[in-house]
Amino acid sequence: MVDVTETGIDGLDVILNGGIVENATVLVSGNPGTGKSIFGIQYLYAGVEDHDEKGIYISFEENAEDIRQAAESVGFEDWGEMVENGDIKVYDKSTMLREEDFNTAIDRLLQDFAGTTYDRLVLDSLTMFSLFFDDEKENRTYLLKFSDILKKNGLTSLLINEQGAVFPETEIGLENFLTDGNIYFIQTPTDNGVNRYVWVAKMRKQDINTDIFPMEIGQGGITVYDRAGGFSMMGSEDQPGF
Ligand SMILES: Nc1ncnc2c1ncn2[C@@H]1O[C@H](COP(=O)(O)OP(=O)(O)O)[C@@H](O)[C@H]1O
Ligand SMILES: [Mg+2]
Repeated sequence: MVDVTETGIDGLDVILNGGIVENATVLVSGNPGTGKSIFGIQYLYAGVEDHDEKGIYISFEENAEDIRQAAESVGFEDWGEMVENGDIKVYDKSTMLREEDFNTAIDRLLQDFAGTTYDRLVLDSLTMFSLFFDDEKENRTYLLKFSDILKKNGLTSLLINEQGAVFPETEIGLENFLTDGNIYFIQTPTDNGVNRYVWVAKMRKQDINTDIFPMEIGQGGITVYDRAGGFSMMGSEDQPGF
């Protein structure tokens, strides 16, 4: 048995055969609005609340106040307090963009991680991170350096990957060599809203269930439902459209 980090979503931990392998780097992909950021918030919140594990949230898109409001909107009332007392460290848009030079900002952040007492990390998003580099080679060099430092410091990390029409030019394509796992969030429109699904496509060292499972977002964050063993991507009558 490998040591695992529970995600804070019971149904997902069942699919993951207990949780994310400790010290892994997991790519979390999906279109805008599929629940990636809420998943990241819930992952850190559960870490503090249930496991006494501290977390780091890096956001290029939002400020700390927006992130707190998002957390509170799904009932994570103690988010602000956890940030204030240092159980969750937020590097928000204003922190990340303060340095003149993005490389300097990243270097400073990586220095902060050295000898860290944090266990969990969320990068929201890897897509935005990559947009700061003009040159693909430099981008990859930094990503590899970044993921190496996450592992060296014992962090179990979620790297969020924005997909779809809003970011058509940012196909990351690093899934296979940079990450230990791949989780996809999917939504399909219906007459009265959306149907939501989660799919764990890959998790190294774990015997995972690769079916697609339904989920909802509401008070308490994300809930993943068992559906008679899930249903396959292939050949199912009611498979979600992509
Ligand atoms: N309190 C809530 N109740 C129900 N749904 C919510 C709530 N808060 C957010 N959502 C849903 O979650 C979606 C946003 O999720 P988010 O994690 O920000 O997506 P992403 O980061 O993938 O773009 C919203 O579009 C909304 O439908
Ligand atoms: Mg988001």
